[in-house]
Amino acid sequence: MAKVGIFFGTDTGKTRQVAKSIARTLGSEIAAKPVNVRNATVEGLLEYDVLILGTPTYGEGALPSLETGNMTESWGEFLPKLKGADFSGKTVAIYGLGNQETYPHEFVSAMIFLYQTFTECNATVVGDWSTEGYEFTHSESVVDGRFVGLALDNEIQKDLTPERLTQWLAMIAPTWQ
Ligand SMILES: Cc1cc2nc3c(=O)[nH]c(=O)nc-3n(C[C@H](O)[C@H](O)[C@H](O)COP(=O)(O)O)c2cc1C
Repeated sequence: MAKVGIFFGTDTGKTRQVAKSIARTLGSEIAAKPVNVRNATVEGLLEYDVLILGTPTYGEGALPSLETGNMTESWGEFLPKLKGADFSGKTVAIYGLGNQETYPHEFVSAMIFLYQTFTECNATVVGDWSTEGYEFTHSESVVDGRFVGLALDNEIQKDLTPERLTQWLAMIAPTWQ
């Protein structure tokens, strides 16, 4: 079975596109087909040693959810289900999509909720990322001067995404090698 599970939330499809691109890059021996978190279960996540989790930010710095106007349930509804789950020995890497021009005060802030929840569930979170090369004023997802995961802006900096993804995947590759 593939070692890496890829789960994403999305409303307009950009976070799914990135998930697919990650799966293609890793190949089917390593990564399973990406799953929209609205169709996921906690047991489904626990099947993998390594999880790559993607989320856009909606509202003002919020997770996608019915409350933020997402068309379906998403991370906002899923994360509470993880309460009490044990991800000891599991590795989690997070990526987040946002828009630094329209939302410079909450750029990719939703990543922090995944980071906090999986840390509380004893997972090892890897893949923190430099804030250089972005223009924003605040992000909840910056801890100790670095993003807790890969920040992507497919609206303002779409051309930078392939290179950022390549670098980030190379960085976290030791977790499945
Ligand atoms: C109503 C609305 C609110 C948003 N709020 C934020 C935000 O607080 N921070 C941010 O970085 N991006 C924000 N965005 C930008 C989205 O995160 C960005 O468009 C993302 O690529 C959407 O991903 P998706 O296509 O997977 O749904 C917002 C977009 C919309 C439409």
